[in-house]
Amino acid sequence: MQIHTDIPILDDLDAPKQVSATAPGKRKVYLETYGCQMNVSDSEIVASVLKSEGYGLTHNVEEADVVLINTCAIRENAEQKVRRRLGELRAHKRRNNPDLKLGVLGCMAERLRENLLEQEKLVDLVVGPDAYRDLGNLLGEATDTGQAAVNVQLSKEETYADILPVRYDTNGVSSFVSIMRGCDNMCSFCVVPFTRGRERSRPVDSILDECKSLVEKGFKEVTVLGQNVNSYRGESVDFAELLYRISMISPDLRIRYSTSHPKDCSDDLLHVHAERENVCNYIHLPVQHGNTAMLQRMKRTYSREQYLDLVERARKIVPGVALSTDIIAGFCDETQEEHQDTLSLMAQVRYEHAYMFMYSERPDTYAARKFEDNVAEDVKKRRLQEIIRQQGVISLESNQSEIGKEHVVLVEGLSKRSDEQLSGRSDTNKMTVLDRSDFGKGDYVKVRVTDCTSATLIAEPIRLYTPGS
Ligand code: 5AD
Ligand code: SF4
Repeated sequence: MQIHTDIPILDDLDAPKQVSATAPGKRKVYLETYGCQMNVSDSEIVASVLKSEGYGLTHNVEEADVVLINTCAIRENAEQKVRRRLGELRAHKRRNNPDLKLGVLGCMAERLRENLLEQEKLVDLVVGPDAYRDLGNLLGEATDTGQAAVNVQLSKEETYADILPVRYDTNGVSSFVSIMRGCDNMCSFCVVPFTRGRERSRPVDSILDECKSLVEKGFKEVTVLGQNVNSYRGESVDFAELLYRISMISPDLRIRYSTSHPKDCSDDLLHVHAERENVCNYIHLPVQHGNTAMLQRMKRTYSREQYLDLVERARKIVPGVALSTDIIAGFCDETQEEHQDTLSLMAQVRYEHAYMFMYSERPDTYAARKFEDNVAEDVKKRRLQEIIRQQGVISLESNQSEIGKEHVVLVEGLSKRSDEQLSGRSDTNKMTVLDRSDFGKGDYVKVRVTDCTSATLIAEPIRLYTPGS
């Protein structure tokens, strides 16, 4: 199986990842994942459903009987990437294995159902994000009838709460735990509410049980996931309370979450960050744009000033908190002045890190129906470049200001460059490389930063750290 991600919430999710969970003698499934962390987590659900249906998993497409692509529809280039890949896999099927079943899962399923099946005759299986329990039936149906099988029904209830994810691509240190699905926000540019449906939250106890079982298996970090994670609502438990309860499971378990909306970033939540050492000192707080009129067109429900107030509150309640953001350049009717407001907001907030995108019109969205995608391509590109360049300078300066300071790093494994070095992330989510010394995967290590690039801190280890000490 491989993971290709288009939304780089974690630094190197873009890199393809291999698994080797082949079960000989069974029909074998090869699963490739594109898009966000939620899709990676969903693929773990898919692997679990297939395993319970008697399928084996393989990382080798050549030996697969079934090939599934978990897709992303957030921007046009994400869809194009998947379409190109489907073309290659279709050719592989024609040439080498005509009985192979090729399926599309996830966000592209609903919208492209007709195109993929009826017009292009590209695939044998189309399964939306709420229909994974039906995978065994659908595969059986496609095999028995030789016809394409489809289920793209979205659900108001499905959270897969009772399905234990098969963590086929794990480093054994850090894991995703999905706590809610869907999004009700309807930002005008975003296709997610259409591809993933309404918000629903998983019951508190099933979340706590999953976290406890991860601790028992030796995991040291969970990233709690949802499309709109901080709007979580479980029976009289809000997101702040849920994080608090997860943080009480073990001081040895670090907690992160993604991705949040500023409207749901309450003071209670900030206080949980401040009070609980193991709730990381890092918040991803997507602003999208720096101009109030534009934020209104985007239907983001806050003004520039309200967002800046929130940043001030976050920094007051949680001293030293690291912030990152998402930015869109070139949304409908964006003027040069409005673009400058994005640059000035970024300069004012000084995010540690940002994910920056060029606006891509998505079918069905409010913006596609009501506005014109009228910023010229070259202007969009230039504005995005300016945003990226400015953020590069800010990230580098922010990392330089860390030199000489101490941090606690959770070691995730050997560094990519050398077996003599380890890599992990600081509490503030900075990728950090340190000398291996006597330390290893899963250790909390107190380090002193000695050097940096704009993306990485270089550090010397000081000592093993015991959380809570
Ligand atoms: N075009 C460009 N970027 C988008 N995003 C969401 N929809 C679009 C779009 N149509 C970005 C937002 C969001 C992130 C996950 O992807 O910044 O926060
Ligand atoms: Fe899309 Fe907005 Fe929901 Fe995020 S909060 S998934 S940007 S609609």
